[in-house]
Amino acid sequence: MGEYKKTEILRAAQLLREGKLVAFPTETVYGLGGDARNEAVIRQIFAAKKRPFNHPFIVHLGTEAEISQWARTISPAAMKLAKAFWPGPLTLILAKQPQVSSLMTAGKDTVGLRIPHHPIAQALLKEFGRGIAAPSANQFTHISPTTAEAVREELGERVDLVLDGGQCAIGLESTVVDMSGDQPRVLRPGMISTQEIAKALGLARIDCYQGSEILSPGMHHLHYAPQTKTILKKTKELQEFLHHNKNKTIAVLVRTAINYSIHSTTEVVMMAQDPKQYAHDLYQTLRRLDQQHYQLLVVEMVPETEEWQAISDRLKKASGS
Ligand code: TXA
Ligand code: MG
Repeated sequence: MGEYKKTEILRAAQLLREGKLVAFPTETVYGLGGDARNEAVIRQIFAAKKRPFNHPFIVHLGTEAEISQWARTISPAAMKLAKAFWPGPLTLILAKQPQVSSLMTAGKDTVGLRIPHHPIAQALLKEFGRGIAAPSANQFTHISPTTAEAVREELGERVDLVLDGGQCAIGLESTVVDMSGDQPRVLRPGMISTQEIAKALGLARIDCYQGSEILSPGMHHLHYAPQTKTILKKTKELQEFLHHNKNKTIAVLVRTAINYSIHSTTEVVMMAQDPKQYAHDLYQTLRRLDQQHYQLLVVEMVPETEEWQAISDRLKKASGS
């Protein structure tokens, strides 16, 4: 980080102290940050995102030393995950300290904590010296921003400063693991896979939570959704689907190079074969296509394997399925 960034960080930390909102890059997506101890600020974040009050925020920390200010206890198992993946794209749900704002935790007795790895996030957290509450920096139900421009499109004047760190390296939100109960539960899959979480815990496997109760708002349908109607199609269904919908303007996201008998109204976007690259590109691609006002976005389904789990989850949510 150059001198320019240093002065930007100082300014950003000062704004946070004054109760203002600062958007900042993390390795996953951009966050809309505010002082996690200030309830007036928490209200402002809810308002800026037009987010209902039953959706809790993650608190971002600079160091492990701060965990005990927020979490009542951290079990040996949770500590294993912290050691294995922090700083990084992991959020741990832990029993909260009584003084942690229940407005921020949506009335839950747990709190989500994350130590991000991104150098700008790290520098801001160190300079501010306290927890930063930060949901993804988008309007409620929209896809998360992975560039500073996307944050400005989403939030405009409702954010006091946007720290620009270029495009986020990972591109999908963190893996959320609930460690507050008897059993570890993955509430939101991410690019740290469920298998990697299990391995770090010394378990053969753990399940992704699939109950009917909404434990975590990221589990709602039509989260992470483009404005354009989005549907998923199996590889073998694509060709015929496009043929039957020639009269529509359609953008197609594919991984398989077959002949789609392209119509003039169809834009085909070839996505990466590698899941990491695919995740990195996905939200930016959806955002760009959304701005073209196609009648339909069609996405070729991705493999149902571990390394595609988070991508598959977000695609299903984007299509409301
Ligand atoms: O990668 C990320 O996690 C990004 C960056 C900015 O850190 N943040 C993010 O925040 O995605 P948000 O608020 O958009 O999503 C946080 C997820 C939601 O699904 C929320 O329900 C869950 O974490 N969460 C937060 N606190 C929780 C709690 N106490 N219990 C259960 N789920 C919680
Ligand atoms: Mg979000």
